[in-house]
This record gives sequence, structure tokens and C-alpha cells, in this order.
Amino acid sequence: MQMASLDMPDWMSAVLHSVYDGLQARLERLGVSFEPKVSGDGKKEMRLLDYACGSGVITRELASSMTSVVGIDLSSANVDRYNADMAAVHTAGAAPRAYVGDLVSGDVDPSLQGPEFFNFDLIVVGLAFHHFYDAEHAAKALTDRLRPGGELVAIEFRRHHGSDQAHHLPHGHGHGHNHHHRQPAQGHADEDGHGTSSPSVYVRMEDVEPTIKTHDLTGDTVVSIFTGAGLKDCAWAEYDDTVKMHFGGGEQLVTPFVVRGRKPSSD
Ligand SMILES: C[S@@+](CC[C@H](N)C(=O)[O-])C[C@H]1O[C@@H](n2cnc3c(N)ncnc32)[C@H](O)[C@@H]1O
Repeated sequence: MQMASLDMPDWMSAVLHSVYDGLQARLERLGVSFEPKVSGDGKKEMRLLDYACGSGVITRELASSMTSVVGIDLSSANVDRYNADMAAVHTAGAAPRAYVGDLVSGDVDPSLQGPEFFNFDLIVVGLAFHHFYDAEHAAKALTDRLRPGGELVAIEFRRHHGSDQAHHLPHGHGHGHNHHHRQPAQGHADEDGHGTSSPSVYVRMEDVEPTIKTHDLTGDTVVSIFTGAGLKDCAWAEYDDTVKMHFGGGEQLVTPFVVRGRKPSSD
């Protein structure tokens, strides 16, 4: 992953590395296809929407398999940063470009209603579903932006609610662990859900925390949201390794997970 141009603290780049390195292979193991589709005029196309793109870490990771990439984010500072950095990032077609906007919170600005903002082959939402006021509406709004057969992907964190962590949470509700739902692709974690193969990464989250709307997303809840949006073949997998966050002065282990769902072809 190319992170050198990002002036983020070391801890944050370490987290992004652990979440996004090898993302394409991780998505392929979950059944997401990166095979370009052949359009009516014989051109091969693979169009990505990096939704809530931030400074573009996901775009950097996936761009080489795409013919075009669009980023959208609420934050104009992030969008400026994304566009300034993308000169060095190559797709098989046009350079990635980001736009300020919000597709998921109500009326959408007319500037985001042109054909270049629809019919994506793949939409990836990295670490942002928990920021959306209405995750169900967001999943539907993003599904509308997929081509039939296109895929929606969310990357999220599942919080662990161990006794040494939950009392630090602003919303200390526990859902327990979901080991019985685990799927073969997610590898092996120990009985506490703490990964066994690499050290955890430390993160401070106090600046980000006030913007978090949903604190208890899990693979199952996101699958249920995706299913409600009309997506099929929904599946999720957790990462092998945990990440250690700081919420409101307390530490908390979280496990990243990835969810995919396909828009039916017959829509
Ligand atoms: C934790 S950052 C993740 C950025 C990037 N996806 C990544 O993984 O590095 C969350 C991003 O979501 C954006 N965001 C939050 N709510 C949004 C919304 N309703 N529409 C678009 N972007 C949103 C924020 O501006 C921020 O850039």
C-alpha cells in the first residue's frame, strides 16, 4: 500500500495497513469478482466508487484493477487531499477523482446525479457505515448506484465487550462475540476473539468518536442491512487480527470485518 504521501500519525497508518493491505485478495476470497465486464461497445470496464473515501487509501489499494475510480466524501478537506494525491495513482483508464457530497443522508445534490455516478461495478465503504445516520437508507441509496450484478462492500470494526473495555464506552451495550457465525475465510482467532498471529495496533479515537452513529455493527447486522437493501449472496468474514482503539480514554479491542452483497442482475 502506498502511504508515504499521507501525513497521518504512525498509529493511523499502521491501522490502515492492517485493515487494507491485501484488500483485493480478501474481497476475492469472499467472492467479489474483479473481472472487468465487457460493455456494449466491446470495452472492458471495472468502475469503483470509493464512498466516504477519506484521503483515498482504498482507491490506492484497488485502483490498478479498475478502469475508473470515483471517490465521494462529505469532507472537502479529504476530497482536496484525495485529488492532490491521485496524480501518482494509476487505473487502466482515467485518473481517480473525488467529489464532495453525500449520497446517503437524504436529498442528493443534482451535481451527483449524472451517469458517471451510477452503474458502478463495485462500491466500497471503508470504516464509514458507523458514521451514517441511517445505515439502512445508506445501503439502499448505494445499491441504487450499482449496476445490476454489481457489488457493495463494507469494511467495519466489531467491538469486543470484555470486562476490561466496556466501561470505557460511551454506549456500553454488549452483543457478545459471534464465533458461531464465523465463516471459513476468516481464519482463526482465540477464544477471546483476540487474534493469535500478530500484535495489536494502538489508535486514539477521541476526535472521531462524536461522529460515530452506530457503535455495535457486526457482520450479521451489516448482512441484515444489506439484505434489507435487496442485495443477494451476502457474506462476511472477520480478519484474523485485532486492532486496539482508544475510545474516550479507554482502550478497546476491535476486529475488522468485511461484508459483501450483490445487486440482483434482473432488477
Ligand atoms: C474513518 S473515515 C474513513 C475514510 C476512508 N474510507 C478510509 O477507510 O480510510 C470516515 C469517512 O467518512 C466520511 N463520511 C462520514 N459520513 C459521510 C457521509 N454521509 N457521506 C460521505 N462521507 C461521509 C468522513 O468524512 C470520513 O472521511
